Order: sequence, then C-alpha cells, then structure tokens
Amino acid sequence: MDSQASARKLKVAIIGCGRVSAKHIRAISRMSDRLELCALVDNNPDAPAILLKSTKKKIKHFSAFTASIKNYYDYKDMLKEVKPDVVAITVPSGLHYAIAKDCLEFGANILLEKPMTMNNESSRELYELADRKGLKIAMGHIYRYFPIVSLLHDDMASGALGKVGHGSVIVRWGHDDDYYHQAAWRGTWKNDGGALMNQSVHALDLMCYLMNAEPIAVHGMIANRFRDMEAEDTAMGVYTLNNGALCQIEGTTATFPNDQEASFFINAEKAAIRISLHKGKPSYSVLNPKGKNLAFKYLRRYIKKFGLSYLINVAKNPHYGIYTDLYQSIVDQTSPIADGKSGYIAVDMVLGFYQSVLQKNEVALPLPQSFDIEQMSEVQLHQ
Ligand SMILES: NC(=O)c1ccc[n+]([C@@H]2O[C@H](COP(=O)([O-])OP(=O)(O)OC[C@H]3O[C@@H](n4cnc5c(N)ncnc54)[C@H](O)[C@@H]3O)[C@@H](O)[C@H]2O)c1
Repeated sequence: MDSQASARKLKVAIIGCGRVSAKHIRAISRMSDRLELCALVDNNPDAPAILLKSTKKKIKHFSAFTASIKNYYDYKDMLKEVKPDVVAITVPSGLHYAIAKDCLEFGANILLEKPMTMNNESSRELYELADRKGLKIAMGHIYRYFPIVSLLHDDMASGALGKVGHGSVIVRWGHDDDYYHQAAWRGTWKNDGGALMNQSVHALDLMCYLMNAEPIAVHGMIANRFRDMEAEDTAMGVYTLNNGALCQIEGTTATFPNDQEASFFINAEKAAIRISLHKGKPSYSVLNPKGKNLAFKYLRRYIKKFGLSYLINVAKNPHYGIYTDLYQSIVDQTSPIADGKSGYIAVDMVLGFYQSVLQKNEVALPLPQSFDIEQMSEVQLHQ
C-alpha cells in the first residue's frame, strides 16, 4: 500500500453473517478511524439484518456505522461493485478455500476464519497465492491476540526463557447436540471436522507460536463418545516439534457447554507458563524458577507497548487485535501475527493427526501429500 492509500480508510466486506461475524462487526466498529464496513454478504437474505440487529446494542453510533453497508447475496457481485481492500470470510469451513481464492485473485486482503481450509494443499496454495500477489492473509487464530501472548512469544524466540521442554494444551469446549443440529455443515468431515479441526486448531497454533517451533511428527487417537455428529467429539495425541520439545493435546466438545475451558501450559527452562480461559474468565501465570509469578510484570510491559485501551479491547474481543494487526500489516507491508503460513501449519497439524488415526501410527509432518479429510468416514468412531 502506498502512503496515499495508507491515509485513507480501508473498505471491509464480510462474507457470511452467522455466529462469529458478530465479533468481526464489533471489532470493525471500534476502528472507525481506519476501517469502513461497506458490505455484508450472505446467501440467506435475512442474515445481514439479523446480524446487525443482534449487534446494535454493542455498537456506538450505530446509524453512522451502518450507513454505507450494502447487502449482497453473491460475493462475486460484491467484489466487482464494492472493490473491498479487506474481505472477512466467515462462512462454513468447507467453503473457505473457494471464496478465499476468489478474493485473493480479485486483489483483496483477507481475514480468514479458522481453519484456513479443510485441506493441507489448498491451505498452502492460498498462502503462496497471497505471497505472489503481495496480499495479506490474517487468520482467525484468536489466541495469538490474547494479552501478553505476543511478549511471551518474543521472549521464547529470543531465548530469554531458555530451552523449551514440553507443552500441554486442553480444549474442553463443550457443545450439546443442539449446536450440531443448528446447521447441516457442523460436525461433518467434509465441511467442519470434529473437536480438533474446529475447536482446537487455533489452540494447536498457539502452542507452536509460544514454543517457537514447528511440528515434525504426530501420533493421535480420536473417539466419539457423546455427540450426535459424524466427526470426533474427543481427540488426544502428542506432537514432536522441530526443537525437540513434545506437545500433548486433549481436545473435546463432549464436556458440558456451560464449562468451556482452553488451558495452555508451557514448560521452559526459565519459565512455567499457564494461560487459561475458563467459563469466559482468563487467567495467566508465568513462574520463574524461584516460583515468583511474573504475569503482572508482563502485563505492565504489554500496556507500555500497546496501551491500556488496546488491552481492554483485545481482552473483550480478540478479533479487535486481528483487525488492528491486519490493518497495520497492510499499511507497513509486514506480516500479520497470525499469517497465512500459521493457517497452513495448523491445518497440516490437524490433518496429520487424523492421518495418524487412520494409519494407527506416528505420521511425519509436514504431510508430503494432500490428505482428503473425507477418508476419515472410514474410521469407526461411535462405540
Ligand atoms: N475464530 C473464532 O473464534 C471462531 C469462532 C467461531 C467460528 N469460527 C469459524 O467461522 C466460520 C463460521 O462459523 P459460524 O459459527 O459463524 O457459522 P454459521 O453457520 O453461524 O454462519 C455461517 C454463515 O455463512 C453463510 N453462508 C453459507 N454459505 C455461504 C455462501 N456461499 N455465501 C455467503 N454466505 C454463506 C450462512 O448462511 C451463515 O449465515 C467457521 O469456519 C468456524 O470454524 C471461528
């Protein structure tokens, strides 16, 4: 983007006006000095109005904010007419690839919800396409934008926290059967995947980000114990990372919906890091070898670097962090924190895990070939 362009607001369009798009709208509304929401697209003609109605109370100056929004049924018409700088893609996961590719081909930067696509090769193709065209992909990997996370990553990357030993992540993101019956795509192999691909993919990404490493092997197991869905409701496995560290995951949607939890633990030579979100409440501790908690120190550093208002905004809605970062990366021509490569690696981690289930052995990463997730319907899950 040239300096003239950087002075103007970026035009944003959202494709898919369902559950998660409300977080996008709220984030965009808080950046009205930099972003202008120009279009809402959904193949359900009622969806844009329902979405706006549901967000009305949380948006300041609602009438001014919504004044220039046009509604579309077909995203290709929207691209031609609106010519957005940024497109947020918040449709069912099985549609991410085709729509993201069209938006990039058109010349728009994208904010793509997780998982990047349902396939390792198509995910790689998208980030390579964006690179070739000089466009940005920001992934909906919200955990990277939690307060203090980027500082912990920087300290791990600089060696300040010493060698990393192992990590452990728990995603107990309970959903009941009503959730899976809400829309035909949920819980299917083709368009969603199970607890790993939907609820845990960005948690796996956070572990790699914090441990400053990429996965080289995985051994996993899955089951469906309770939920009325095609894919797994429970997954457990272990990754080996390219720095020698191990990382285990428990990912499930079979727990109670009113007890949702995502917890991250990293064991490094000079720090034991715990980050947790339980029933919507975040908590952090960063112990040094003497057992002193440095979390407050990190928080102070974070506020000094980003400001209190940014901290409050991302704590309330991490999508605000994604939009702020994407905006800045377009203006400065840098890479977003959760870039296209992180999207590809996270999808590869999940598909490698699924392949390991299918083969009943450890699988090397990155996967050398395309893995068709629909093969997973061969696995006998419901017992
Ligand atoms: N990052 C996060 O925290 C987070 C949270 C929830 C969901 N997600 C991801 O966001 C995506 C959407 O999830 P959701 O829960 O909002 O789903 P949803 O089913 O509530 O909403 C999807 C919307 O897309 C619309 N749609 C479907 N096909 C379309 C098309 N061809 N063109 C335009 N619109 C179309 C549907 O009508 C619906 O309104 C999924 O990929 C999911 O994994 C991310």
